[in-house]
Amino acid sequence: MSELFLDGRWVPAAEGGTRSITCPADGSPVGTVAEATDADTLAAIAAARHAFDDGPWPTTPVRERAALLSRVADVLERETAAIARVEALDTGKRYVEAEYDVADVADVFRHYAAVGADADDLGDRTVDLGREGVVSRVVREPVGVCALVTPWNYPLLQASWKVAPCLLAGNTFVLKPSEITPHSTIALVRALEEAGLPDGVGNLVLGTGPGCGGPLSSDPRVDLVSFTGSLAVGKHLMAQGAATVKKVALELGGKNPNIVFADADREAALDNALTAVFLHSGQVCSAGARLVIEESIAEAFVDELVERARLIRPGLPFDEKAQTGSLTSAAHLGKVEAYVAAGIAEGARLRCGGRRPDDPALAEGFFYLPTVLDRCRSDMAVVQDESFGPVLTVETFTTEDEAVRIANDSIYGLAGAVWTTDDAKADRVAARLRMGTVWLNDFHPYVAQAEWGGYKQSGTGRELGRLGLEEYQETKHVWRNTSPAPSGWWG
Ligand code: TAP
Repeated sequence: MSELFLDGRWVPAAEGGTRSITCPADGSPVGTVAEATDADTLAAIAAARHAFDDGPWPTTPVRERAALLSRVADVLERETAAIARVEALDTGKRYVEAEYDVADVADVFRHYAAVGADADDLGDRTVDLGREGVVSRVVREPVGVCALVTPWNYPLLQASWKVAPCLLAGNTFVLKPSEITPHSTIALVRALEEAGLPDGVGNLVLGTGPGCGGPLSSDPRVDLVSFTGSLAVGKHLMAQGAATVKKVALELGGKNPNIVFADADREAALDNALTAVFLHSGQVCSAGARLVIEESIAEAFVDELVERARLIRPGLPFDEKAQTGSLTSAAHLGKVEAYVAAGIAEGARLRCGGRRPDDPALAEGFFYLPTVLDRCRSDMAVVQDESFGPVLTVETFTTEDEAVRIANDSIYGLAGAVWTTDDAKADRVAARLRMGTVWLNDFHPYVAQAEWGGYKQSGTGRELGRLGLEEYQETKHVWRNTSPAPSGWWG
C-alpha cells in the first residue's frame, strides 16, 4: 500500500483510511493508497511550516536547490517506464501518451534547474538612486508554505509545474493530487526523496478535497495556494483563502476556440483540429473543443473531419493499435453524456459519436467515442461549458470580426488557435483574442520557458516561464542608510 509522506516519512493515514484505485479503462485494480483526513493535512502543514521556519531549505544556496531539481529529472528519466505505467493505469490514457508526459515533466525540472544552476539569487536587484549614503536593494524571497492542489487529467505534469518552481524558490509544500489518480504523484515524491529533499520540505497527502483538503486553504500557516482544477473548486478555494489573505494562484478551465479561415492550409488545419479536441479524449484544459470555421469552407471541412473522427480507434492503455484512451471516471463519463444530450436538445446536429463504443473488450471502461456536433450556437451549454470530453462543437462565421466575437464569447480565456495563410490576419486576430495562449497554425504546444495561464475565469497568475517562478516568490525592499544621521524633521 502507498502511504502519505509527512515530514520525511511514509506513514499510514491517522484514522487508518485506505482507498482502492482502479483503472478506468477496464476496472482492473491498480493499487491501494492511504486516505487522509484533515488530521493528516494539519500534520503535513505543521511539518512544512517547521521546515520553512527552522530548516535549511529556504536559505540553501540557489545552486544547490537547482542541483536537486536536476537529480529529480535524472530519477524521473530513469523510472520513465514505471511512472508512465501507473499514470496510464490511473487515468486510462495510452501508455505512449504517459511516456510523453514523463519526458515533459523531466524537461520542466531541467528547465528550472538551469534557471538556478549558475545563479547566486533569483532576481535580486540594486536600485540605482543616483545618490550617496543609501543602498536600496530589492530581494526575491520564498513565499513560505505552499499548498499545491492538482487534478486528475495530467496528474504528474500538473504537479511538476508547481513543485519544480516552488522548490527552486526555496519554499516548502503540501501536495494533494486528485484522489482517483495518485500513483504518479507518489512516484514524483519518491524521486524528490531519492534526490535528497530535506525532511518536511515536501509533504504528500492523499484523499478527497472535502475529506482532507479544507485546511489547505483555511489554515493560517499556509501562505500560498496554487490550484489547478475546475472553476467551481477554484472559486471556493479563493473565497476560503481570503479569510487569511493567502496568495492564491488558479489554473482553471477553458473552452477554447480553434478558428479556421478559408485560406488556411486545409490538410494541416483538418489534422490538427482532430488533435486539438480529441487528444486524451478531450480531457485537456486547453482542448480546442470549439471549431469556429469560415462559412464558405465549413460544410466540406466538417464532412471530412467527421469521416476522420469516425476512424479514431479507442483502446486499452497498452494496446499499441489504440489511438485514444478512456475517460477517467464514471462520473465524468456521465457528465459528458449529459452535455451532448443537452446540445442535441438545444438544436445541435450529431454528426458522429455521441455514444460509447460497441467493442465488448471496452465494455468495462469509461469510453466515449469522438463526437462532433454541428449547427451549434454560442448560447448553447455544450458550447459555453467545459464538457472536458471528446466533444467538438462547430460554429461558423463570415467575417474576421465575427470570428473574433464568437471566439471571445466565453467566460474562459485559456487558449485558442488561428489557422490562416495570411500572417497579417493571424497577427490581427491573435492580438484581439482574450486568452493566455494563442497558437498560429498550430495547436497544443507548450514549453517550460514560456508562461501558461488564463485570462478571465480561466485563472489568476501563471505557471511555467519566469512568472511561473515569481508566483512562488515574495519581494522585499531593503534600504540601507550607510551614513545615518538625525533627520532634523523635529527641529
Ligand atoms: P476539481 O474537481 O476542481 O479538482 C481539482 C483538485 O482539487 C483535486 O485534487 C480535488 O480533490 C481538489 N479539491 C476539490 N475540492 C477541494 C477542496 N474543498 N479543498 C481542497 N481541494 C479540493 O478538478 P478536476 O475535475 O480534478 O480536474 C478537471 C478540471 O481541471 C477542469 O476544469 C480542467 O480544465 C482543469 N484543469 C486546468 C488546467 C490548467 S493548466 N488551466 C490543467 C488541467 C486541468 P478530489 O478530486 O480528490 O476531491
